[in-house]
Amino acid sequence: MRIYVSRPLPEACLARLGELGAVTLDGGRAGPPSAEELLRELPGHDVAVVQLTDPLGGAVLRAACPRLRLVSQVAVGLDNIDLAVCRELGVRVAHTPGVLTDATADLTMALLLAAARRIPEADRYVREGHWDVWALDLLCGMELRGATLGIVGKGRIGTAVARRAEAFGMEVIHHSRSSGRPLAELLARSDVLSLHAPLTRDTHHLIDRGALFAMKPGSILVNTARGALVEEWALAEALDDGPLRAAALDVFEQEPKVHPSLLTRRDVILAPHIGSATERTRGRMAEMAVEAVEDWAAGRRPVHLFEG
Ligand code: GLV
Repeated sequence: MRIYVSRPLPEACLARLGELGAVTLDGGRAGPPSAEELLRELPGHDVAVVQLTDPLGGAVLRAACPRLRLVSQVAVGLDNIDLAVCRELGVRVAHTPGVLTDATADLTMALLLAAARRIPEADRYVREGHWDVWALDLLCGMELRGATLGIVGKGRIGTAVARRAEAFGMEVIHHSRSSGRPLAELLARSDVLSLHAPLTRDTHHLIDRGALFAMKPGSILVNTARGALVEEWALAEALDDGPLRAAALDVFEQEPKVHPSLLTRRDVILAPHIGSATERTRGRMAEMAVEAVEDWAAGRRPVHLFEG
């Protein structure tokens, strides 16, 4: 069996893959493979262990088939992979749901609190030497108790965020494809809107300029799901001339690029897609991706096959 590994994994994981067959890993490349590199490198492999940075579009998948049988992604989101073409070609896709739920929900709460209580601004205020006296109105923010949190997409992560927010005394309402309230109601009522839906054709730009301008006056947008759920260019305008008070973003439309209009703002908090980035969770994600290959090699059904 020939296994393609797009980017470095922990040594122990590579050793486990090495027990199963010949591993191809271009250790010399700093970043993710481009589509052109995948077109060149992937054919001739039975299995690909990939990451959310890797563009597995239809052309790449077709070039790698019929030999390619399994794609094992070290992430829960699969929007970098053309799942319809995988289905058509009979390529199975495994991913890593569940293990990153708490880490991502924790980061969502961290960003929510940081935006509501203006933590990055406060940090800069002290460092830059502006703090000369305590004042009643210094850096006041939004109180969470009694505020309404609107959760878009109530899967594992959305549910875990709801539990945390309830512990802070927030009232939680949600919108999802199959349950909850209409999106328009969430936009109008939420003091904080937090996104937890997968990126699909249906959710692309779900929060477009119109939705941003339909948000509650003084509200906060938190996005730890996928950047393209939001029409990113319109955020600055919704902060300047619309209802938004602040935004806290862990994900972006063209990662690692961030729309320049957001980079200099004090009312926007930026993080480099670190929702699942705890040592334990990232380690487990890599192990789970390897376990899927081990299962498949042993003729077992990988536990977390995507069945969309
Ligand atoms: C992270 O964004 C993931 O999809 O695992």
